Amino acid sequence: MSLQDPEGSAREAVAIVEAGHLPVMEEEVMAALSPIPGSFQIDATVGGGGHTFRILEAATPGGRVLGLDADPAAIRRSSERLRPFGDRAVLRQANFERIGEVARDAGFGAVDGVLFDLGLSSYQLADLERAFSFRAAGLLDMRFDTSVGEPARRLLATLDERQLADLLQRYGEEPSARRIARAIVERRRSEPIETGQQLAQLVVSVVPAARPGRRRIHPATRTFQALRIAVNRELEVLPVALAAAVDLLKPEGRLAVISYHSLEDRIVKRFVAAERRGCICPPQLPVCVCGRSPRLAPVGPQPQRPTEAEVSGNPRARSARLRVARRLAA
Ligand SMILES: C[S@@+](CC[C@H](N)C(=O)[O-])C[C@H]1O[C@@H](n2cnc3c(N)ncnc32)[C@H](O)[C@@H]1O
Repeated sequence: MSLQDPEGSAREAVAIVEAGHLPVMEEEVMAALSPIPGSFQIDATVGGGGHTFRILEAATPGGRVLGLDADPAAIRRSSERLRPFGDRAVLRQANFERIGEVARDAGFGAVDGVLFDLGLSSYQLADLERAFSFRAAGLLDMRFDTSVGEPARRLLATLDERQLADLLQRYGEEPSARRIARAIVERRRSEPIETGQQLAQLVVSVVPAARPGRRRIHPATRTFQALRIAVNRELEVLPVALAAAVDLLKPEGRLAVISYHSLEDRIVKRFVAAERRGCICPPQLPVCVCGRSPRLAPVGPQPQRPTEAEVSGNPRARSARLRVARRLAA
């Protein structure tokens, strides 16, 4: 399993934020979407506005981009960055599970491309207050949108040992899930686990050391990933949003999705495979009764990976996988 490593990334994030956020697999995304002047695109995860900036440049004159982000801070930041494009950049603070209604309300009911660049931005990693990273002394929150759902520290305080172990296993594929869950429950009897640092130290104290010679991620990487996925319902909202995005695509329109860990990449891969097949009837039925026809055809290698040159210049790209598909005429 490939993971975003919040500790390594936190260091990188400071450098990246200082230098300006670097959009991941930017050239590959541009080749996938091939935005032409006047085209309409949706960036479902506008973040710092990096990909959207490039898309709007290529779509000039006349092209428009609808940028969504669950995080109000991302909308504020990207609206500054995209100001030169005036009303051709349309920004909305929304979870992408609502992409269908948000797009139609904003006049983007039929579009030429939809991009998802999943996960965390460098800006969020550098935001020590929300404690996405191991180093954060701030209260463990991890929500992209802090106005909905429950912060990560609340899950740590309320889930029982079995529920915690399940969460770490399911969303982090953490081999020491049971051991960590037990340690959390024991520790919270004497003090609440409230900060990123506290949680990271606790995990380090119970996870066995890596075998010599094996490159390993920080011992708390999988725990942090699991909590973030849980508080943001990441694996639930993704398939809903992908299906709604395909509804919005014009024939020949492109869907491009960058994921950073194997759980979400698997969802994207299965989604594209199912939309390519069309029919979802059980194989034992002699004739199709679902009436669904194929809606997507994969484009290019599945998945595409960043070049070595990109990874050496932008380590955040190292776990990225890009899948691209073309909308078939329904
Ligand atoms: C990797 S960053 C995107 C960076 C962006 N492509 C750029 O070039 O600046 C991912 C963004 O997606 C947002 N995000 C993650 N899940 C989301 C969801 N379910 N709905 C809306 N935004 C989401 C995060 O808040 C974050 O800002």
